Amino acid sequence: MAARRFYDCTVSEKLLYTSFLLLIGVGYLMAISYLYVVSVNKDGKPGLSVEDVAASYYGNRSGTRLEAAIRGPMAGYIQEEERHHIVAWLKDGAPQEGYQQQIKPVVDKNCIACHSKAAATNLPDFTTYQGLHEFAQVDTGMSVMSLLKLSHIHLFGISLLLFALGYIFILSEVNVWFKRFLVLSPMVAVFVDILSWFLTKWDPVYAYTVLVAGAVLGFSMAMQIVISLYQLWFLKRPS
Ligand code: HEC
Repeated sequence: MAARRFYDCTVSEKLLYTSFLLLIGVGYLMAISYLYVVSVNKDGKPGLSVEDVAASYYGNRSGTRLEAAIRGPMAGYIQEEERHHIVAWLKDGAPQEGYQQQIKPVVDKNCIACHSKAAATNLPDFTTYQGLHEFAQVDTGMSVMSLLKLSHIHLFGISLLLFALGYIFILSEVNVWFKRFLVLSPMVAVFVDILSWFLTKWDPVYAYTVLVAGAVLGFSMAMQIVISLYQLWFLKRPS
């Protein structure tokens, strides 16, 4: 018996498959747009780079966000000498002692016009030690807690999605090796991608694997969606 193909489907099946494929197609485009916007917000440059990925999972361990801010975008609000005070305090590990006498006056004078609840700017609040301290720690990227949470949601969610997608795609008429590749590769890619999040937290070089696995996943999904949508309605039964 010949394997089942799209032309064997009833109209109801075709409608079900088509609407599902269109919805995940839209989801796919939204995921791409989201990645684009997030990556622009990170470094002002469009496109997801190895640096962006490394910054998310490994962090920026060369310094704190507070130091980066007063050397960078916030440099105009603080004098040279005051900056040295704050940097020295940060190098000491931003301890509670010293904050009240040396740091708070500088911050009160220069920063809280914008960085306080009273200013109602939605910016981080620097009127308290706790508020400032959050930005005074070395940025080690996403926590293992968040990674675990994200991983299990991704593994369950994406593998179910890929299962349904692959189930439909199997009804297409393409080279059998190409079909096997397209069905298997995104599953492997999801696993490698998520494994690489954890590896990137340990060593930023794995940001490359995250990107390659993401690209393989994206490519295979796009091919399965496009081929299935086309063949659902245009594949002719061989005579
Ligand atoms: C005129 C208003 C204004 C003043 C004064 C100001 N800031 Fe900011 N600050 C902002 C705005 C707006 C942002 C958010 C946009 C951005 O990140 O560039 C921000 C963001 C920050 C951030 C977050 C950066 C990040 O990693 O997300 C830090 C830290 C910061 N400011 C520190 C300071 C310090 C320290 C001072 C005082 C020396 C200061 N700011 C003074 C307006 C101000």
